[in-house]
Parts: sequence; structure tokens; C-alpha cells
Amino acid sequence: MTVKEIFETMDYGPAPESAGDALAWIVDQGAAFGHFIDGDWTAPRKDFQSKNPANGETLADLTQATQDEVNAAVTAARKAQGKWESLGGHGRAKYLYAIARLLQKHSRLFAVLETLDNGKPIRESRDIDIPLVQRHFYYHAGMAQLMEAELPNAQALGVCGQIIPWNFPLLMLAWKVAPALAMGNTVVLKPAEYTSLTALAFADICQQAGLPAGVVNIVTGDGAVGEMITAHEDINKVAFTGSTEVGKRIREATAGSGKSLTLELGGKSPYIVFDDADIDSAIEGLVDAIWFNQGQVCCAGSRLLVQEGISEKFHTKLKARMDGLRLGNPLDKCIDVGAVVDPVQLQTITQMVDGNTEGETYKAAVDMPLEGCFYPPTLITGLAPSSKLMQEEIFGPVLVSTTFRTPSEAVQLANNTRYGLAATLWTENVNLALDIAPKLVAGVVWVNATNLFDAAAGFGGVRESGYGREGGWEGLSAYTKPKGTAKALKPVEPFSGDKGPLDPLDRTPKLYIGGKQARPDGGYSQNIYGKNGALLGQAPIANRKDVRNAVEAAHAAKGWSGTTGHLRAQILYYIAENLSARSEEFAHRINALTGGKQGEAEVETSIRRLFTYAAWADKYDGQAHGVPIRGVALAMKEPVGVIGALCPDETPLLGLVSVMAPAIAMGNRTVLIASQAYPLAATDFYQVLETSDVPGGVVNILTGQHSDLAKPLAGHMDVDATWSFSSTDLSAEIERESAGNLKRTWVNNGLARDWFGAEGEGRAFLQAATEVKNIWVPYGE
Ligand code: NAI
Repeated sequence: MTVKEIFETMDYGPAPESAGDALAWIVDQGAAFGHFIDGDWTAPRKDFQSKNPANGETLADLTQATQDEVNAAVTAARKAQGKWESLGGHGRAKYLYAIARLLQKHSRLFAVLETLDNGKPIRESRDIDIPLVQRHFYYHAGMAQLMEAELPNAQALGVCGQIIPWNFPLLMLAWKVAPALAMGNTVVLKPAEYTSLTALAFADICQQAGLPAGVVNIVTGDGAVGEMITAHEDINKVAFTGSTEVGKRIREATAGSGKSLTLELGGKSPYIVFDDADIDSAIEGLVDAIWFNQGQVCCAGSRLLVQEGISEKFHTKLKARMDGLRLGNPLDKCIDVGAVVDPVQLQTITQMVDGNTEGETYKAAVDMPLEGCFYPPTLITGLAPSSKLMQEEIFGPVLVSTTFRTPSEAVQLANNTRYGLAATLWTENVNLALDIAPKLVAGVVWVNATNLFDAAAGFGGVRESGYGREGGWEGLSAYTKPKGTAKALKPVEPFSGDKGPLDPLDRTPKLYIGGKQARPDGGYSQNIYGKNGALLGQAPIANRKDVRNAVEAAHAAKGWSGTTGHLRAQILYYIAENLSARSEEFAHRINALTGGKQGEAEVETSIRRLFTYAAWADKYDGQAHGVPIRGVALAMKEPVGVIGALCPDETPLLGLVSVMAPAIAMGNRTVLIASQAYPLAATDFYQVLETSDVPGGVVNILTGQHSDLAKPLAGHMDVDATWSFSSTDLSAEIERESAGNLKRTWVNNGLARDWFGAEGEGRAFLQAATEVKNIWVPYGE
């Protein structure tokens, strides 16, 4: 093309980045890779291939891990873990820093390799993926350094199995490996089968950094290898990023294993444009929201919601912008949209779009390459909120769009999804932005920007987008556990007896639902005996219908979540005051129920605990994360929603209070299943609640068999979290059932907790009772 022609057409000329060094690196490694286990490479096999999706060329041969190889990787990680942890924070910080430096030094190699393997534009891998990878290792070098001083009660979990997807191959590795190593864990990581090369190059970096053998192990292969890792007995934690479907399967597969689990899954994130927005910026934002990485982004702004008054103008401008996008060779620095990762994914996208018969489909008028996995930027308008493409993740460069009239309608539409990963909103009105942000059900909200990420700001979702956060202080808890070793919990058996009731009046207490006493649906109750066989009273036996009623009542009490911490504190103090007025009676009752002498101490500790959470109610603050972008990420603590909990058996009052108080202090509503063996302390306690101004539905108390009630509670779609401290180990059932809506779980795995001591209260409870939402707002220059 001559200069004259360029001026005539104003077309971009090609500006390709050279693939030479990256291809030479692959050839240097023999163009075939084994696994990286115990600091060394295994012999490669040609089991499957990594291909360049932009042209179909084979890049390298890869090895599908066998069970023996996975075992060897886990064994190496186990062997290395103790020593790695005992290096101390500073010792580990030095290695993480060295890795960050080396990644920086080899940025170009990594950027090109990522683009070759994944198909993403070099502009993105060079300017976004790889710099964020480095930032993650630098940031977590700092976290390792600070661990002993700032997290003195935390220790490593052990060996972490990490399974990552193909959309941000090296970045997802960094998100998983950096915090794990910082906190003293060792890892077995499996990259996605389409995109293993940068993970393998990372292994090379670990060797160059002199990382001790076994600290990082990388095995390659498909989902079958992922299954081997998640099923391995000697793994302490599974961290997964990928599809919701596989996330659910992993939840079920690890249920009851005691493994800690974090899931970063799919999304259908709303992108809301109000009529006062800076339209050009909002359109440019959409390019980053849905055409960034060909739309293969879990938090992609894939659902456009535009206010009606500007809809026509907005869509016209949007189509013009779409036509101006450049699609083609991902190594070309001028390219906006690269190749979809694999023909399989291209087929999925094509089928989803072609299968849709609703609305209007607009495909950008762009030049399509003749070969490779390319899909044009696409916009589908006029869909109903319930349309398949409005609800399902397409995971491609396809935007669906609808309109709204009022801000409240925008919120309703935005939240009308099973997901809750991210949301974007555009408005020039700060009042509107900060009014809407808290109402969006999402783990991340961007105001007048989109798809911003940083190591200092936690990332992760709610609902079926999974749980756990990656990045920030909040991400560290996914890789630590409290110091100390818990003992096994002994099942608490109720006493039996044969002495009949002395009082001819029916004094059977009831269930406590929606602030009212309710007879159990089944009409059954059971005798509760003391140690000497004397009948102490009867307790209702709740069934699944009672669970449903209690959840409905808890759901309806959503006003509680909007109350101030100050008000919640007042109510907790009031409960404490009213309990204190009846302390002798409660102490007596507990002694009679448990056959011990713990009554007085239980009441006293319960009152203290209520005070503790009254104190926390307005002090468990969020944070403002400093991020190296023109903005600040406000990490807001929000209630989880409805928490269903099986209360401890052994401490019938203290156990219930220890679970209830942090939950309601943080604005949750609760369904509490009282101590199975000693339920009468709980049925006495609701009288205290009745006199303490607790709004109906905030605390619901059921009595009955834990094993009967655990399943309906954990399976209920309107319960957001299930906790179990029952002395009957129901962890497996609860975790398995929770997979339905991917509710959060906190189970004891049959391990004991000292409810009288420090283990019985504090930040662990507050953390379980809250979700962190990171709201990115413009700030400063
Ligand atoms: P996927 O969820 O199957 O793959 C992600 C990772 O999990 C890969 O490393 C894969 O080998 C592994 N895996 C697959 N089955 C497994 C199992 N049973 N146990 C353990 N590990 C397993 O995602 P896939 O099939 O590649 O993509 C399908 C859809 O998933 C996409 O269209 C997209 O909607 C969604 N997805 C979402 C991602 C996200 O970041 N949220 C990332 C990748 C895909």
C-alpha cells in the first residue's frame, strides 16, 4: 500500500508483533511438554495439542495427566508444604518478588505466547493480562511479608488444587498461585486444555527464581484431570474458575470431604446506561465490556440496559462503533477483536445465536478473516427479559440489549438473573450512581468504567457466580485457616426417661416463625428428658414445610438488611438486657437439660456475646482499596441474606446466640434449628426475642431432628447460606444440597469448637455473615 493510498482510505496498516521469540521458546522446549512436578519436567507425550485459534496451526504437543502423575504432583506439593510455610513471610516474599521481577523481564514473551495460544489481541495481553499478572505477584509478595504481623492467627491450608479456565490463562494462574504461595500453601495447578502454554512458561520462571521443588506443580490435561485433582484425598483446598455447571459438579464432588472450596463462575452482567450518561464514554466502555477478549470474560457487560429516552440514539451510535471495530490477526497491534479460543467455543456461540428466533440481530459490518475462529461483534435487541439469550451466558462477542424507564426498573432488570458477578452503571449523577450501586446483586460494580481489575481489590460473585474473593485482603481468607488443631466433635445424645408429665396442661412450646409462635405442620412433638429421666417438657418436631414457612418469613423480613448498624446494635443490647433479667431461670433450665453445671456460664457468656456483636454491628467496616487506576474501590460489607443454621447441640443457649448474633448484627435474617438434644433453651429464648423489639421474621427458630431438617434448609433456593455446627455431622448432605443455587456453606466437618472461648466468636463469624461488594468509583485525577 502506498502512502497516497493510505491517505485516501485512512485504513490502518498492519502492525504485527513478531511471534519469533515465542515460537523459538516453544521449539527450545522441544515443542512438546510434560508436567512440571517436584521442580522438574516429566517426559512429554503427544496426547493432545495446543493450537493457535487464529490460524489453526499447532503450537505444541501436550501431555494428558494420568492418575499416577496427579498423585505424584500432590505428593510433591505435600512434601514441600511444611518447609515452604516455615520459611516465614519474609522468606516467601523474596521468592514472590523474584517471580514478579522475572515475569516483568519476560513480559513480551508471555504476551505473545498468550496471544498465540488464546487468540486474544496482543494489545490486551501486552497491556492488561501480563501487567496484571506481575502486579498480582508484587502485591502478594507484600502480603507474605505482612502475614505474621497482620494475620497472626492465620496459617496455611496446606496443598491447594487449582483449576483454571482458558480466557485469561496466565492471569487466572496468578490470581490463584500468588495468594496461595504468599500464605504458605503449595499448589497443584491445572491450566485449561486449550491454553496451557503460559502456565508451562511460568513453571520455567519458577525454576529460574529457584523456587523450592514441589511448591508449584503444574499438570496438564482436560476436565478428567480436574476431576482427579478435586477428588484427591490429600488436597486441602480446591480453587476453581470456570463454568457454573462444572462449579456445581465440583461442589457436589467435594461435599463432606472437609476441603475448602472457592468458585469463580459465570455471569450475565448488566451494563446500565442512564439517560444523563456521557454516551460516547458509555459506548467506548461497551467495547471494553463485551468485545474485550471476544466477550469471553466471566464479568463481561453482556446485558445492555439503556434508559428509554436515549435508546435510539445510543443504539445507532453503538452500531456505528461496532462497524469500526477491527477484527483479525490477534498479533496485529491495531486489532480490537481477536480469535475465539477454540472451534468448540466458536460453535457454541454460533449455535446460541443462530438458535435464537427472537428480537433483531445486528452483526457488525467488519472484514472477516478467511480462516481461524472468528466471530463478528454482534448486538441482539428486542429480547424479553426471560429470553434464553437474556439469561444464558454466551461467552462470546455478543451483546444483548433492552430498555428501561425508571431507575427501579433498571435495578429489577439488572437483578433478574441467577448470576451475580459484576455490574456496570453509567450516569453523570453521583446521587443516582451511589443509590443504585448498593441495590445491584453483584460482587463488583463499576461506576462510569468497566472491567477494571487490580490485585488490591477483591473479585468474585454472589448467587450462581460462585463464592470467595480473589485479590485484596478479603482474598487471603480463601488460603488460610485459624491456627490450632480442632478435636472431633462427639455426638450429643438426648436423655431418655419414662416419667410422665406432672402438669396436666399442654405446655408444649411452639416453633417461632415470622415473629409468631406456630404449631408444627406435622402436629408432632417429642418428650425432652433430663439426666435423671424426669420429663422436662415437650418440643415440637418441625418438618420441611415448617422450614419453608420459616424461610418465607425470613425472606419477607428484608427490611432488616437495610437497617443501620446502630439500630441493630440497640436491639442486640436489648436482647442481652432481657436475657440478663431471666438469667437464673435460663441457667437452671440449661443445667436441667444438659445434666451439667454449665448453665450460669452459658448465660453469662451469651450476654457477653450479644454485647460483642452489638459492638461489632456498626464497626465491621468496609475498606477503600487504593488501586492504580483513576478511581477507588470501595469494599462494602453487605449481609449475605437469609442464613439457615443448625445450632450446636452441646451448648443449647450459647450455641444459638453465637450463631444468631453475628448473623443479625450484620443485617441477615435467620432460620435457626435449635440444639436437637436440648431444644427447650431455644424455645424459652424466643420469649426473650418477643420482648426485645426484634422484627418478625429476622430470627425464626425451629426444633426437631437435624438430619431431617438439614436437607430442606440447604436445598432451599431462597436460603443464601447454610451453616452447620450440629454434633451430627451433616456436612456432606449440606454441601451437596447447596449446589442447587450454590449457596455459601460453613460446616464443622464433625470438628468441635469451644463455644465458651475465642473460637466461639469474632471475625470468622462476621466474615461468614457478610459478602464484600467492590464498588469502583472515579476518584482523584
Ligand atoms: P469449563 O468450566 O469446562 O472449564 C474450565 C476448567 O475446568 C478447565 O480447566 C477444564 O479442564 C476444567 N474442568 C472441566 N470439567 C471439569 C470437572 N468435571 N472437574 C474439574 N475440572 C473440570 O469451561 P469450558 O467447557 O471450557 O467452557 C464452557 C463455558 O463455561 C463457556 O462457554 C463459558 O460460558 C463458561 N466459562 C466461564 C469461565 C469464567 O471465567 N467464569 C471461564 C471458562 C468458561
